[in-house]
Amino acid sequence: MSTERAIDGSAGDADYGRIGRGYTDYRQPDPQIERAIAQELGDAATILNVGAGAGSYEPRRPGVTAVEPSAAMRANRPPDLTPAVDATSESLPFADESFDASMSTFSIHQWGDLGAGLAEMRRVTRGPVVLLSCDPAALDRFWLVEYAPEVIAVEGSRYPAPAAVAELLGGDVSVTSLPIPLDCTDGFGEAYYGRPERLLEPGARLANSAWSFVEPGVEERFVERLSADLESGAWDARFGHLRTQPSFDGSLRLIVGRP
Ligand SMILES: C[S@@+](CC[C@H](N)C(=O)[O-])C[C@H]1O[C@@H](n2cnc3c(N)ncnc32)[C@H](O)[C@@H]1O
Repeated sequence: MSTERAIDGSAGDADYGRIGRGYTDYRQPDPQIERAIAQELGDAATILNVGAGAGSYEPRRPGVTAVEPSAAMRANRPPDLTPAVDATSESLPFADESFDASMSTFSIHQWGDLGAGLAEMRRVTRGPVVLLSCDPAALDRFWLVEYAPEVIAVEGSRYPAPAAVAELLGGDVSVTSLPIPLDCTDGFGEAYYGRPERLLEPGARLANSAWSFVEPGVEERFVERLSADLESGAWDARFGHLRTQPSFDGSLRLIVGRP
């Protein structure tokens, strides 16, 4: 299957030429999540990172190869990382079993052909394929569902069920729920479960591609309603306990496939 590419090369359903610019201001790898990924990658000497973006969670060591189709996202990569190869998951330009391990974080839900992309990752990887993603069935645990159900619905339709990912990957697959820390530095939606004010920042929503798929007006209504509820104390009356809850058991999942 050929993959449609936007002007900046974006290959998935989101156009990072439009939304990718301030991404790293809001999406820094979170140390706790990073440790969980590093543990699964183990001592792999060669690692492939697919949909690598600006390099979040990419190990800082020799032997890492990154693949990223969006020019805007490639431009966000810091100078201490190797430049990313311009390619897509569905057609990886590497020989069979080229890497000890491979990884992909917050990307598989955007791929045009998930089955082809996962088959490609499996083909080029000798050891574990490590995927960070979200379980669509758990997205409505987040209070955002009360304020912008459209965003949760969009995310629910984009994220593949972990069981479907496991089936497509084949082999021995584990799915682990990762708790989201209160001070999570990677601003995916639920990262702000205890810091609602952060989601009022336009950049925080821009760094979360779901917002780019909802009808015009949804964002304005969300900002108005949440601002009013924060001012009146209505948000705190219902969800204020989250401000001090150390972690949130949301939709974040680590999916690890071994041959
Ligand atoms: C939400 S960003 C995540 C970036 C980075 N992995 C991170 O955790 O911050 C999703 C990335 O997947 C990339 N992507 C979308 N479709 C892709 C495809 N078919 N193949 C490879 N990468 C793709 C996008 O260009 C984007 O950089």
